[in-house]
Amino acid sequence: MKRFRKPRASRGDDARTTWMPLPDDPSDQPADAAFTPPDQARDREGGSAAVQALIHGAPAQDSDPEAMPHEVAMERARTLLQALSDCDADTVGHLQRTATTVARVSAALGWDEDRRRWATFGALLHDIGKIGVSPSVMYKPGPLSPDEQAVMRDHVNYGIDLVTAYGFPAIVARIVREHHERLDGSGYPQGLAAEGISEEAKLVMLADIADAMLSRRPYKQALTLDDVRRALSAGAGSMFEAELVEPVIQVLAATPPEE
Ligand SMILES: [Fe+2]
Ligand SMILES: [Fe+2]
Repeated sequence: MKRFRKPRASRGDDARTTWMPLPDDPSDQPADAAFTPPDQARDREGGSAAVQALIHGAPAQDSDPEAMPHEVAMERARTLLQALSDCDADTVGHLQRTATTVARVSAALGWDEDRRRWATFGALLHDIGKIGVSPSVMYKPGPLSPDEQAVMRDHVNYGIDLVTAYGFPAIVARIVREHHERLDGSGYPQGLAAEGISEEAKLVMLADIADAMLSRRPYKQALTLDDVRRALSAGAGSMFEAELVEPVIQVLAATPPEE
């Protein structure tokens, strides 16, 4: 399995950078492809110029995004992930692990093929908007100021813009929009309550948080799976969908550890 050279670990993502073998794995780069440091211009622009450039280069809109063929979705996801990997390969690893978990849990839950597919693409792209977050915020080692938190939270809006411009079905944009919401309304960007959050996003948020907890960060050690189970169970029913917690833990327990 090929790897990107791991750059500085970025905020909100982790240091384990294995690419999962997706059908059209975008990792066919040299094993030690050099990380390109973010440049000053991108930092000043807050990265939003990168989002605008991608949107400008998006393919023509399809007549029916809901009928997007799988191969087209893979190709477009690859384009977006490649752009993200140029500035933040760690987040790409996080996205691929989250997508793998969602694919496995949704299969275990018996979701139909279409629903599994788009939930998995939603997981694969849920943080794609981090392309638009200023590196000075993304890589800041200390706590974020309120203004910096606002910049970080913009990754949700950038992500919605990107998956919409690239013609993904509505549920993919919805997952991006809702992955930081919480059942008790304490999440963002809309503070939606449980009934307003899609089941797909409820699954993605659990897989997302679990991956973050299992990951080592510059400012914290990786938690064990038992720690993750305890933490997610503590929020079951209030922050997270209670019925999805154990299926996520079971899939992660069965996932082989990375080398
Ligand atoms: Fe996120
Ligand atoms: Fe995430």
